[in-house]
This record gives sequence, C-alpha cells and structure tokens, in this order.
Amino acid sequence: MENIIASAVSQVGDTHHEAAPRRSPPGSFVIFGGGGDLTRRLLLPAIYNLACAGLLDDGFGIVAVDRADLTDQQLRDNVRAALEDFTARRGAEAVSLREDIWDWMLPRIRYVQGDFETMQTYQAIADVTAGQNCIFYLAVAARFFGSIVDRLGEAGLVREGPDTFRRVIVEKPFGHDLQSAIALNTRLLNTLEEQQIYRIDHYLGKETVQNILALRFSNGFFEPLWNRQNIDHVQITAAETVGVEQRAKFYEGTGALRDMVPNHVMQLLAMTAMEAPISFDADAVRNEKTKVLDAIHPLAPADVVRGQYAPGTVGKKAVPGYRQEPGVDPHSLTETYVAMKFGIDNWRWAGVPFYVRTGKRLAARKTEIAIHFKSAPYALFRDTPVDKLAPNIMVIHIQPTEGVTMQFSAKIPGPSVRLGGVRMKFDYAEWFSEGPSTGYETLIYDCMIGDATLFQRADNIEAGWRAVQPVLDWGQDARSLAFYAAGSEGPEAADALLARDHRHWLKIG
Ligand code: BG6
Repeated sequence: MENIIASAVSQVGDTHHEAAPRRSPPGSFVIFGGGGDLTRRLLLPAIYNLACAGLLDDGFGIVAVDRADLTDQQLRDNVRAALEDFTARRGAEAVSLREDIWDWMLPRIRYVQGDFETMQTYQAIADVTAGQNCIFYLAVAARFFGSIVDRLGEAGLVREGPDTFRRVIVEKPFGHDLQSAIALNTRLLNTLEEQQIYRIDHYLGKETVQNILALRFSNGFFEPLWNRQNIDHVQITAAETVGVEQRAKFYEGTGALRDMVPNHVMQLLAMTAMEAPISFDADAVRNEKTKVLDAIHPLAPADVVRGQYAPGTVGKKAVPGYRQEPGVDPHSLTETYVAMKFGIDNWRWAGVPFYVRTGKRLAARKTEIAIHFKSAPYALFRDTPVDKLAPNIMVIHIQPTEGVTMQFSAKIPGPSVRLGGVRMKFDYAEWFSEGPSTGYETLIYDCMIGDATLFQRADNIEAGWRAVQPVLDWGQDARSLAFYAAGSEGPEAADALLARDHRHWLKIG
C-alpha cells in the first residue's frame, strides 16, 4: 500500500520518480480450490500479471489443491487455457499470452489432489512446501474455511520459522452475521496469529478505492472541507446490471445486504469517513477504519429499504424478475437491492447522513461516492435571475469509469447573471496508462511482502457486521420488500427515503 501511495503521488505532470517495487520473497502459493472458478478467472491471471511485471522471485511456485483427479500436466494445460482466455478477453487490447512468462511459470505449477477434510492432503502439501514461505489461499466455499485452517494447524503447516512465514488468505463471505463472523474469527485465531490472517475484500484491490485515501490525505484542499460544517450528505452507490446469474443457491440465502454491505460498501464508507491515520502502517489504517465503523449509529427500520427486481429491460433486452430466475423460490423474500441511511456519531460527521444503496439489475453498472457539499449563501443572488444555487458535488467514480468529477456553478456567458452547473473531470485512464488487471495483483503481492493494510482485521469485519446486524435481526418481512423493474433506478421507496430529508439520489443510468 505504501508503494502504491508513493507511485500515485509521484506521477503528477512530468515528475515521474517511481521507485521500482521489490520482488516478492520466494515461496509457495498454495491454492485450496485450485481447480475452481475464482482461481481460473482471477488468481491465475493476477499471478501471471505479477510475473509479467517482474515481481515474482525465481523461487516462487504455485501449488493447486483440489479434489478432482488431475495430473500435473492436465492442471498445467488448464492453467494455460485460463491465461489464454484472460489475455484474449482484453477486447480491443487483446494480446497473446507471453511465451517467455509461460515458460517461466510452467515448471512452477504443481497439483496436489485431495479432499480438504483428510489429513493425507495436508501431508502431501507438507511434502512439497517443507522449509518454504507459504501463502495458503482459501478459494473455497465458506463452510471449509474453519476446517481447512484447523487441519493446517494440526499438520504443523502454519508454524513459522525464524526466517520463513506462513500466511492464510481468507475469501469472503466471512460469516453470515455478526455472531458467525465472531465465531469464525475465534476459530481461526485458535490456530493462527492475527498477523498471519489476510481477510480479503476484493474492493480494496481496486485502484480507485485505494485512491480515496491518496485523494483525501495527499491534497491540502479536501481535508479542511471534509466535515459536517461543509458537507451536507454523502451518497454511496454500488449498482450492477447483472442479475443473480448462476448463483441462485448462494444468493437465496445471502441477499444484497449480506453480499455487499458489511464488506464492500462498508469499506467505501470507512475510506470516505475515517480520520487520517498516523501512518500507512497496516494497524494505523485499520484502527481508524474500525473507529469510524464503530461510530455508526444503530439503524432504525425506517432507515432501510429492501427491494427485489421484477421483470424488466436491461440494455434493450427483456429479463425475468428475480423470482423467475432458475433456482430461485417463486415466493422468495430475498432482497436484491438495499438502500440505507447511516449516521456516524462522531465530531466530524454528526448530523451528516450517509445514504448507501446497492443492487442488482439496475439501470447501469456504477460504483461511486458522491460528496454533496452545503450550498453557498443565496443572499448575493436575490435580485438576479438566479432562483437557486446548485450544490457542489464531488463524485469519486470507482467503476466502470475511474476518476473524480467536481460539479460547481459557473456564470453562463451573456449580459445577465445566470448560472449553469459545470463539471470538471479527472479521468484515470487519461493520466495513467495501466494495463488491465484483475484487482487481485496488489492484494496477492501485498500478502507476499507482509503488508496487511489492504486486508481486514478481525475487528474491521466485526464492525461491518455490527452496523447491519439490526436489519438481519428484523428478518425478511414480506411487507417491507419493495419491488423495482429490472433496468430501473431501484424501488420508489428508496427515493422516498431521501425525499423525506428533502434530498434525492443522483441518477444511476
Ligand atoms: C461480490 C459479490 O463480492 O462482488 C457479487 O458476491 C457482486 O454479488 C460483486 O456482483 C461485485 O464486484 P465488482 O467488482 O463487480 O463490483
């Protein structure tokens, strides 16, 4: 993370003094679920990108662990196919797989076939990783997290040497409510030290999410305005156009709230609202994140809207409603949308609402944070044709557009005083030419070099769940489920949530 901040701030104008990042230490990257979808789509391409960037040590190796009966050669063929697919998927920027990198990776890929529950599997892993640094990546269903870590412990695989580390990366979902998250933390901490656990939230691998801190704390002019004196409210949106896809089984028992809010949305909120840490040291940053999440005022039912998509049109294509999706209960009460109003009870934010919304099958794919500033006093314009002053809005675009927009008023040319809203835009792509990435590169590399800043500590995870736990406790009440047409801006009840405060959402589509 420190590397990232250093390189980000050095690229202004012509001054380009980026320090070369160091290579990872040697060691094995052991992937549980090595034959799975996450590994194929994201982890292997991320490792390939790290190899292309020259960030992997010659003593690096991949050990894929899974149940399927594969030989090393079959696995290697699958890896190659996954990488070819990744490089070809770059659309206009499609390139072919770099053969020099592939030749380098090939002898470094091994397969261990075995069940995650049997000790033999762990013995086989011990045989191929003896004496090495190891990262164990749990790219498996959440129900295996606890038992894999228990067995790693029993097999002595997480014991660190004076010069070797053993770390575990845990995917999401981390628990399904506060209690289960606490229980999982307790279970992992029976075997591991906190500093060996890297709980991943892939939002923290996004450049634009990391940029929130760079933006706030490396520029003198934002921070003095970043408080209740100047900010009217904040809107955080994580909108998707996709529906439930092939994940009905998982999503039916999860819903939009659990899937997106305690993790991704809370990360965005924490980055936006936290105090400046005393350094970019992992604990300093994570202390501040937990503090701000702990300051969230307990939610009231009136501050929450749960929605579910009904049939509609997305990108001119008619799509079914959630209840008509394959594998979904036709009477399902699972929410595919949630909007909430959070209050943060601290000196910086008291009285400033943070409205958040996230949902599937909305009008556009868009993740952004909009800071709405208070309007300037109107007095000066009383005798002019200007009837009201538009508020200043700063929008931090996370995806798919990456950048920052400032919206303010300017005089419309002409003899009378008339004001028009104008926009000033910083577009990431115009300034920085980065190749396509999966977002996992930074996270994997940071774990290799032992920098946990972009990973969640036990208390961060629990604070995220604590903030949403009241909604989980109320249960899925049929009366409170608001429907919205697929491809729309979301349920009307979400508009009413803001209208009640004389505010409105920025448009998604
Ligand atoms: C995942 C959720 O964690 O994040 C998915 O399980 C969601 O349901 C995804 O689609 C969104 O991630 P991104 O990077 O596409 O915004």
